[in-house]
Amino acid sequence: MANVVVVGAQWGDEGKGKIVDWLSERADIIARFQGGHNAGHTLVIDGKVYKLNALPSGVVRGGKLSVIGNGVVLDPWHLVTEIEKIREQGVEISPETLMIAENTPLILPIHGELDRAREEASSKGTKIGTTGRGIGPAYEDKVGRRSVRVADLADEATLTARVDRALQHHDPLRKGLGIEPIDRDGLIAQLKEIAPEILKYAAPVWKVLAENRKQGKRILFEGAQGSLLDIDFGTYPFVTSSNVVAGQAAAGTGMGPGAIDFVLGIVKAYTTRVGEGPFPTELDDADGQRLGERGREFGTVTGRKRRCGWFDAALVRQTCAVSGVSGIALTKLDVLDGFDVLKICVGYDLDGKRLDYLPTAADEQARCTPVYEEIEGWNESTEGARSWADLPAAAIKYVRRIEELIDCPVAMLSTSPEREDTILVTDPFAD
Ligand code: GDP
Ligand code: IMO
Ligand code: MG
Repeated sequence: MANVVVVGAQWGDEGKGKIVDWLSERADIIARFQGGHNAGHTLVIDGKVYKLNALPSGVVRGGKLSVIGNGVVLDPWHLVTEIEKIREQGVEISPETLMIAENTPLILPIHGELDRAREEASSKGTKIGTTGRGIGPAYEDKVGRRSVRVADLADEATLTARVDRALQHHDPLRKGLGIEPIDRDGLIAQLKEIAPEILKYAAPVWKVLAENRKQGKRILFEGAQGSLLDIDFGTYPFVTSSNVVAGQAAAGTGMGPGAIDFVLGIVKAYTTRVGEGPFPTELDDADGQRLGERGREFGTVTGRKRRCGWFDAALVRQTCAVSGVSGIALTKLDVLDGFDVLKICVGYDLDGKRLDYLPTAADEQARCTPVYEEIEGWNESTEGARSWADLPAAAIKYVRRIEELIDCPVAMLSTSPEREDTILVTDPFAD
């Protein structure tokens, strides 16, 4: 049976949520494997809008098992609020339909405070532009071996010891930043209060997944962020604090690499980025403005305006390679309707030398100027197209050119925010 990993192949917000929701019909289990509630995934089903942060996008369909894997960092208070909100929209969530890995590290209020304090203390050029949700500090504590994890919530002595260990690190840090010391007893009390709300979903996820896999169940792994925000392969340090690439799906849930059969890279038909950092094809003109307006490019989590630019084929070729992408879902093609000419970045010029990838050194990245190829636009509407036959010839040419340049085939196309406005070319779940 095929298992599919969905990963963002740019700087996030490629439309992963919509595609995961669409594909979840074919899956039994939908699992998040990294990131946290810095993710903002928007689904539109018959005009009804669902916004998800920590919950896998499969929850909306019902009848599926949703899993939060150990690679995620989880804010328990946020999760409870998100569950309440989604329940109000008529979605059922219960321990039968949601499982959280027992070894998932928690995001505590001190992580958000530290995240925001650091950002405020940073000057332009060093600021990351984080979502302020404590993601970085929570991952630091994970690798620093001082996290409170889901399983720790079940035993008061362990919980207290874990909090004390974290405090030993955090209090001196807070002092340096001018933040008051942590209210230890208050934090422990808060954790004890939320504990039953989280523990009811706690499970040995690695075991549940192994058993389901044996029974031939299909798993859909849902990535958050995008490969250019990956802690190793992204535009460091302007990245998130987790591995975002497809290889993380295995480690972030407790499965071997053999569990992954198809990697679907989600690719927007142009480029956007929220937050600071390099963006070679960024447009600061009417075309950029038009992309932002037509694409409604505002961040789901922070409401920030997303930076917009032309499609960067060099970058996507690179991210498809590091994630081993089998095929892409090209989204938001409809946003390009009505442009006379479209530009595609095919490589960079660095000090007079032509490069076909973005170099790692920050100073070189800054000196790279994009080399563009121009391609004819189209005036017809592609919005809501559900088959190739509905697409204008110039749009098909644009898609085909992208396939050639990124060296990867298009498996799916998306032509509006609505679930069903999707064209399937190759079924990622087909054996
Ligand atoms: P994610 O973080 O990758 O899940 O993406 P977001 O949900 O943050 O951002 C994608 C936005 O584009 C959402 O508002 C979607 O509803 C919307 N969207 C997804 N696919 C399409 C599409 O093909 N066309 C248009 N116009 N909007 C889309
Ligand atoms: P989805 O899953 C776009 C960006 C932030 C910031 C950087 C680090 O919706 O695609 P963090 O809070 O993670 O420490 O911030 O990463 N970022 C995202 N940008 N989409 C996301 O998620 C993002 N999650 C984090 O804007 O630049
Ligand atoms: Mg998003």
